[in-house]
Amino acid sequence: MENYPRLFIKAGLVYALIGAILGVAMAIDPSLSGRIRFVHIHLNLLGFMVMFVAGVAFHVLPRFNARPVPWPEGVKYQFYLQNIGLVGMMALHAGGVAWRGGIFQGLFVLFAVCAGVAVFFMFYNLYFVLSPAQSAELPKEITGDMKVGAVLDQFPQALPVFMQNGFTSLANPTARKTFAKVVSIEKACEKHDVDSAEFLRKLNAVISGKPQASATPPASPPAEEKKSTGKEIYKGEMCQADTLVGSLIKIYPVTKPIFEKHYGEGCFSCPGQAFEQVQETAHMHNVDPDLILGEINQVLAAEIKKP
Ligand code: HEM
Ligand code: HEM
Repeated sequence: MENYPRLFIKAGLVYALIGAILGVAMAIDPSLSGRIRFVHIHLNLLGFMVMFVAGVAFHVLPRFNARPVPWPEGVKYQFYLQNIGLVGMMALHAGGVAWRGGIFQGLFVLFAVCAGVAVFFMFYNLYFVLSPAQSAELPKEITGDMKVGAVLDQFPQALPVFMQNGFTSLANPTARKTFAKVVSIEKACEKHDVDSAEFLRKLNAVISGKPQASATPPASPPAEEKKSTGKEIYKGEMCQADTLVGSLIKIYPVTKPIFEKHYGEGCFSCPGQAFEQVQETAHMHNVDPDLILGEINQVLAAEIKKP
């Protein structure tokens, strides 16, 4: 899970806790209501409900719809504005009636605007992340002058091809958002000593849905980068904790039902499965990695024994 979705959920839970404490306080002593009713309501609704929903939605919707949020920076701005707005409004409101006049009202309006703008940012990101992928506008072919980041934004399914050809640093989302946005495919191939014509052919085969004709096994990532990214698996090999799920189900499709059993059927509509390690997906789905590895390797052992 990325940083800000996680922070939204954590902040939401903290607000729920404080909101509940204030609710209980009001239940015990109803005379407190005038002072803390607004705080209770907004902690629970603007704090807990909206932030919790936003955090989960920022994690899930881009994966369901296979497109990033339209304005990733906006998630961060929303987080700060919503927290500042909420805490500021609550402090002034609970401070007494002073917020209804003079300088305090000006301040209250400022905090209210912060919270309002935050909700607007959320609307923008979550509404438009649900827009259908506009395939008509996608280029029909990937060419060498296109930027790596732009290609990955438009064709997330091309990521495994980059990984298999040694561009393993692209497993890191920050790399995809930063230098990948400014480096063209041609330049990247030159730097990594990859045959650009062959590489473009593989990329275009993937985006057109045709199988790759080349029988050459994918290049191994450089040794020092292997730890942070997953490993490819080849026929005859057993599965490791850091084996890439995408590679595993490509080489051994018989393992697919195991993932479906543990993670549900939505698993294969998630673009993440192609470049996440078996152990990462297990942690993500709260499944014991040893349990799933054991089941996978049992199936693989039977497969490998087959003549
Ligand atoms: C331990 C949990 C909670 C307790 C003990 C509690 C208690 C209360 C009390 C005593 C009031 C009445 C205040 C008054 O009008 O004087 C109230 C109002 C309210 N609470 Fe809670 N509450 C809890 C959780 C929540 C949650 C989780 C939400 C929303 C997600 C929520 C939303 C509201 C709202 C919207 C009102 C105003 C209702 C109205 O205007 O009639 N509360 N709560
Ligand atoms: C942009 C964020 C928000 C701002 C700036 C804001 C501001 C306000 C203000 C100024 C009041 C009147 C307070 C008073 O008269 O003492 C109010 C009341 C209320 N707001 Fe919000 N609000 C926001 C978001 C929300 C959300 C997201 C919900 C629910 C989902 C909500 C539910 C309520 C309720 C139920 C009341 C009535 C409180 C009562 O009966 O005492 N607000 N809000």
